[in-house]
Amino acid sequence: EVGLHPAEYPWPHKGYFETFDHAAIRRGYQVYREVCAACHSLDRIAWRNLVGVSHTVDEVKAMAEEFEYKDGPNDEGEMFDRPGKLADYMPAPYPNEEAARSANAGGYPPDLSLMIKARHGGADYVYSLLTGYVEPPAGVVVAEGMNYNPYFPGGGIAMARTLFDGLVEYDDETPATTSQMAKDVVQFLAWAAEPEHDERKKMGLQAVIIISSLTAISLYVKRFKWTGIK
Ligand code: HEM
Repeated sequence: EVGLHPAEYPWPHKGYFETFDHAAIRRGYQVYREVCAACHSLDRIAWRNLVGVSHTVDEVKAMAEEFEYKDGPNDEGEMFDRPGKLADYMPAPYPNEEAARSANAGGYPPDLSLMIKARHGGADYVYSLLTGYVEPPAGVVVAEGMNYNPYFPGGGIAMARTLFDGLVEYDDETPATTSQMAKDVVQFLAWAAEPEHDERKKMGLQAVIIISSLTAISLYVKRFKWTGIK
């Protein structure tokens, strides 16, 4: 069974020449941290990845230090807790899948690192999912503990609506409406799924310029060399 087809949205980073909106990535990280991280891991992103993208190095160091990480063994062969550092990866909310399922009525909150690439519809789908919770239509029965969302294949989803107007307070004072938070967190997750995106487009553009210049030069040289022979 397929879900409702999401609308197509004009994401700021969509065009060939567009980079990510980094202020949106910063707000989106805040939504991830304050809302989604309660249930979803983000295994492929390390603290250091945020540096220069959404936060300064000092901000990221302070953010990492708020979490405890297991380390060791030390010289005595013991494991110990220490504050997080730039090289650490984002901490996961649950120790394993079993713990995650038992906290979510049997549902498993998937890792969000590659979600924007993994799901059909990508950013449009995740945005639609987050903002698309409605009452089930007449005649549709949703199982106990499940929630109705027409964008989710099958309609019944273990994740309840999580975004509500005013849930977070942005430091750039952007009003935190449901749609704004969804838009920001989707852009954050799009970055997380493809941190090399901006660099890739820049290099692609340079490659096109260099290769077309070389083509033009070689065409000119060819004509120049052959003029006498014609
Ligand atoms: C599933 C995103 C917050 C629990 C998902 C999926 C996405 C997602 C993209 C996958 C849907 C699919 O399989 O197609 C987010 C985002 C959040 C958020 C961006 C923050 C804004 C939460 C929270 C909880 C949660 C706070 C727990 C209270 C779950 C569960 C599933 C899920 C249990 C599995 C659903 C199922 O397979 O039926 N979420 N989520 N999520 N999420 Fe979240």
